[in-house]
Amino acid sequence: MLLLPLCLTPQDHLGASTPVCTLATKWVPSVPLHEARTATLTRATPSYLPKDVSSLQLEVIEETAGCLHLTLKDLSSPRYEVELPVGVPQSKGDSQEALYTTEFQSDPFGFIVRRKSNGRTIMNTTVAPLLFSDQYLQLSTALASSLVSGLGEHYTSLLLDLNWTSLTLWNGDVAPHADANLYGSHPFYIVQEEDGLAHGVFLLNSNAIEVMLQPTPALTWVALGGILDLYVFLGPDPQSVIRQYLQVIGYPMMPPYWSLGFHLCRWGYTTTNTTRQVAQRMHNAKFPMDVQWNDLDYAKQRRVFTFDPWRFGDLPEMVEEFHKKGMKYILIQDPGISSTSPPGTYPPFDDGLKRDVFIKNATGHILIGKVWPGPTAFPDFTNPETRRWWEDCIRDFHSKVPVDGLWIDMNEPSSFVQGSVDGCPDSDLENPPYTPSVVGGQLNSKTLCMSAQQKVSTHYNLHNLYGLTEAYATHSALMKIRGKRPFVLSRSSYPSIGRFSGVWTGDVRSDWEQLRYSIPAVLQFSLFGVPLVGADICGFEGNTTEELCVRWMQLGAFYPFMRNHNDKPNAPQEPYIFGKKAQAAMRSALNLRYSLLPFLYTLFHHAHTSADTVARPLFIEFPADSNSQTIDRQFLWGSSLLISPVLEQGAVELAAYLPPGTWYSLHNGQPFYSKGQYLLLPAPLDTINVHVREGHIIPQQEPALTTTASRRNPFLPDGGTVSWRLGLGRLVLG
Ligand code: GLC
Repeated sequence: MLLLPLCLTPQDHLGASTPVCTLATKWVPSVPLHEARTATLTRATPSYLPKDVSSLQLEVIEETAGCLHLTLKDLSSPRYEVELPVGVPQSKGDSQEALYTTEFQSDPFGFIVRRKSNGRTIMNTTVAPLLFSDQYLQLSTALASSLVSGLGEHYTSLLLDLNWTSLTLWNGDVAPHADANLYGSHPFYIVQEEDGLAHGVFLLNSNAIEVMLQPTPALTWVALGGILDLYVFLGPDPQSVIRQYLQVIGYPMMPPYWSLGFHLCRWGYTTTNTTRQVAQRMHNAKFPMDVQWNDLDYAKQRRVFTFDPWRFGDLPEMVEEFHKKGMKYILIQDPGISSTSPPGTYPPFDDGLKRDVFIKNATGHILIGKVWPGPTAFPDFTNPETRRWWEDCIRDFHSKVPVDGLWIDMNEPSSFVQGSVDGCPDSDLENPPYTPSVVGGQLNSKTLCMSAQQKVSTHYNLHNLYGLTEAYATHSALMKIRGKRPFVLSRSSYPSIGRFSGVWTGDVRSDWEQLRYSIPAVLQFSLFGVPLVGADICGFEGNTTEELCVRWMQLGAFYPFMRNHNDKPNAPQEPYIFGKKAQAAMRSALNLRYSLLPFLYTLFHHAHTSADTVARPLFIEFPADSNSQTIDRQFLWGSSLLISPVLEQGAVELAAYLPPGTWYSLHNGQPFYSKGQYLLLPAPLDTINVHVREGHIIPQQEPALTTTASRRNPFLPDGGTVSWRLGLGRLVLG
């Protein structure tokens, strides 16, 4: 098999004059590889890459029957290795027989992982050279099928395009659009094999990564640092693959019940009174809603841990009022700490300076970037002292403003200047020999200098972990301060963030295409162990329309995390501002969600205890059904509720796919016997089609305007939601 373009990529950029591919393949093992679990590989020929590594330590660890772990490290000098915030116990040496076999080859070096049950090749890395230099590590593999998902965060379909595409994993403050590295990095993919089996691969590496996808099918990982630390999960079914992955990165946290209710936010609720009015108008118009939010408007000069004395002077009182009404309150918390307040006037910065919590530049001075408040310093959350300082800041603020959760934004981290206000030094870290395609062109575009120093390593190595480390610090702080399960919502993400936080998909535009792509975006986070996820309903950027907003509220009623959020300059999009019909449709979607919250909460419990998915791609439930393998315009809640939203302007009917079996309309109980067919379903503006799978019971509780109230309501008798669809305020029970 010839995979020539795999070889060309590095040469093009590195300007190496010798053909890298042909020379770089031979590694001589110290011991016969089929006998040993560890070996030293010595390079027989140079690769001609700058700072080539000439001997590698290979270790093969059979973690469990379904999980094989291979590491390749530099023998002569230690390199940065990712340590996830809290070590995850590995269940080593279970008694079951391994689902895989491994074979090794030295010329060219590579390994082959096969599925023992049918001999299928899961990975074959002998197809192209293994390269390992200081800032360029490359490993390629043939793939068992073209049905590949994962490798987020990108604006893609659930199934990735393998036709010579490339995906960069580098956390960036980038509004979702095609061919761009977005806010999070998840170097994990899952492959659906042709017969319904599945496997997954995780590269535990936090450096900038590029993944080149090829139609062979094949895939090439390129990492700009660290080590090659690969986990292979043999499933054998898709849900088992996810579970095996989460055994390595951690199972997701259990969110509080109220956080599954409706959240309302916008940038531009400029005073406490405006904010109060919004919540009151929602209440008056009988829209269920649990959580009122404020964006940066609350903060004095946009400095976190303060509140504006004029416009938000009675913020503490407002929060208490919400609490009395059985509601919750959340506000935004950016990581950048304003560095230009007069000394003695802004304790977060003054204390932070004293406690040495900020990231430094290459010369050891505090690195100053620019975010919303102007010049800012950036807390280094890899430093335990920073986490204590962060906790103290939150405790102090919380003692005045008893927030119920925190929204941690801009944590890629984002900065409005490149690197720092003083620029960055000219070095290999800032300008590596090879830079994958990133928005802005350079790794330090719209973020910090790569040479910036953090406690654990350089920002070059730690950049992708910034949001994760902040989420960990924030979750732990809230846990200690409030003594309850915390709610944290983060924009940037990395494997294991689901243990501490939910995620939203950032600054989506108010248009139909973004509505449609929000489904694969949400489903990808399900695969990444972040079940609490949603997109900004009705869109964040640009003005929405009434129809789009209705359809988005209907789909959003089935995002695991449901929030309507809007950008400052845009027309309002709170449900109550629309016409009567639109309001009725939104109200009915909200009531439907609220009636299903006990079920949703149970799904989260299963995610938390068994690594099940909440919003679930059809292929996880119907892996051997070829239609289900590709669908990402519909999805499931758990194993039994099929959601088929309208995603096109003007549509009043919908071709919905029903996987083989009997499905019942949740609205009227009508059964459909499907052989695995598309059905044309009516979908007028007041309807989102939802079907229940045969053999399942979906509990529903009478909704109310908050979960505090709905939790006191009775569970509904069979067929109860019909009344909600028809918009009849209360149910006749019994
Ligand atoms: C970022 C966030 C957005 C927020 C804004 C102002 O753009 O993604 O949600 O409203 O900053 O804080």
